[in-house]
Amino acid sequence: MAADVIIGAQWGDEGKGKIVDALSEKYDVIVRYQGGNNAGHTVIIGKEKFILHLLPSGIFHKNKINIIGNGVVIDVNGLVTEINELKSKGIKISPKNLIISENANIVLSCHKQIDIAREGKKKIGTTGRGIGPAYIDKYARIGIRMRDIFDDDILKEKIKETLFEKNFILKNLYNYSEITEEEIYNEIVNHRKFLKPFITDVVYEINNLFKKGKKILFEGAQGVLLDVDFGTYPYVTSSNPSVGGVLTGSGIDYKALKRVFGVSKAYQTRVGNGPFPSEMDEQTAEKTRQRGGEFGATTGRPRRCGWLDLVALKYACILNGITDLIITKLDVLSIFNEVKAVTHYIYKGKKTDKFISDSYELSKCIPVFKTFKGWKTDLSNIKKYKDLPLNVKKYLEFIKKFIGVKISFVSTGPERNQILKV
Ligand code: GDP
Ligand code: IMO
Ligand code: MG
Repeated sequence: MAADVIIGAQWGDEGKGKIVDALSEKYDVIVRYQGGNNAGHTVIIGKEKFILHLLPSGIFHKNKINIIGNGVVIDVNGLVTEINELKSKGIKISPKNLIISENANIVLSCHKQIDIAREGKKKIGTTGRGIGPAYIDKYARIGIRMRDIFDDDILKEKIKETLFEKNFILKNLYNYSEITEEEIYNEIVNHRKFLKPFITDVVYEINNLFKKGKKILFEGAQGVLLDVDFGTYPYVTSSNPSVGGVLTGSGIDYKALKRVFGVSKAYQTRVGNGPFPSEMDEQTAEKTRQRGGEFGATTGRPRRCGWLDLVALKYACILNGITDLIITKLDVLSIFNEVKAVTHYIYKGKKTDKFISDSYELSKCIPVFKTFKGWKTDLSNIKKYKDLPLNVKKYLEFIKKFIGVKISFVSTGPERNQILKV
């Protein structure tokens, strides 16, 4: 009887979707606990490629319960579209295998507009999905929650309240046109009949499932370095992808948590702005980007590429009590004669092995690299860990020793079965 967590140990896009899908077989329940449709989790099954934004990546397996917890912010139109698209491809989705917290907050079109307008002033490089403004409303206690959408009087009152300040901001600060209450009402009301059967009290559901002995897997979105509290602030998202978010974003009994899997690429990427000490020169980055398909699953933006930052990875492990590492995209590094990883920084003229989450300070850190011999071997058809080239194993062994956390799985390609147990 246990609940495990999968979190991104970098700046997102580590391959969490693929890993959750691959490991889902061993679990009964898969739970998203934070973020919204800023996430893009890719799952490849045979010739079909799926990108999930709000639905848990366990949705492709039969007889699993998928949960969207209270910590997630939901774009209702996005969610309904995602469900319908999957259904049209033959994936079964019903209240039997998907439940949504009545306390999850809703992302409205005015949140997206403010997100985009703010980007004109302060460029975080957000996904433009309204995530920050929706979380702001949640904490300002003026958010609209899933439970509020079924009663016309409550819904209309809440819309009025939320638009009161937003229209002032849009019109006077950003010169955008105002949004009417009807517009917001219409974007929600069209979907409420569809959504009603999915909405429930997740606190009782999830704890009952746990008590019944069901195995639960939590699926983080984004990554530890994008955490609003622990990431490279202010270049972060507005939620807690870190393990703390699991408790506040789902209501699970803390005693349930057992293993925390930290997913990390064998190198490093970042979308959007912010410091990136191990960033590659543009030529090397472009090679990696092309070989690794490093383009955003949500926005299509090219991802910035760098070498694995072990200082940052160790920080992610300490912060989250990561019990197991999962290293993805090893196959991508096969193009290089040499592979590098950051082991220290030089900060204010001194060597340090501490990650500094403040963006300004981190941008002053000069990375110190260790170089490894490459393997120049196609890894995509290797079926057993023991059959990996020696130089891959040496690289992995170094990571394990440096971080002090075991590596439980490695991923050698985007497909479901391209995962090796260590
Ligand atoms: P997530 O947000 O963490 O779920 O990751 P994304 O789906 O945004 O990005 C990961 C990308 O890498 C996707 O295109 C995956 O299909 C792909 N991928 C995952 N694991 C591997 C791997 O081991 N090798 C390769 N080549 N691609 C992978
Ligand atoms: P998954 O779950 C990578 C980044 C954005 C931007 C910052 C803030 O697929 O790993 P936001 O729209 O959240 O306010 O943007 O966070 N970002 C991600 N980067 N993967 C993600 O999700 C991300 N979600 C947000 O690029 O830098
Ligand atoms: Mg992604």
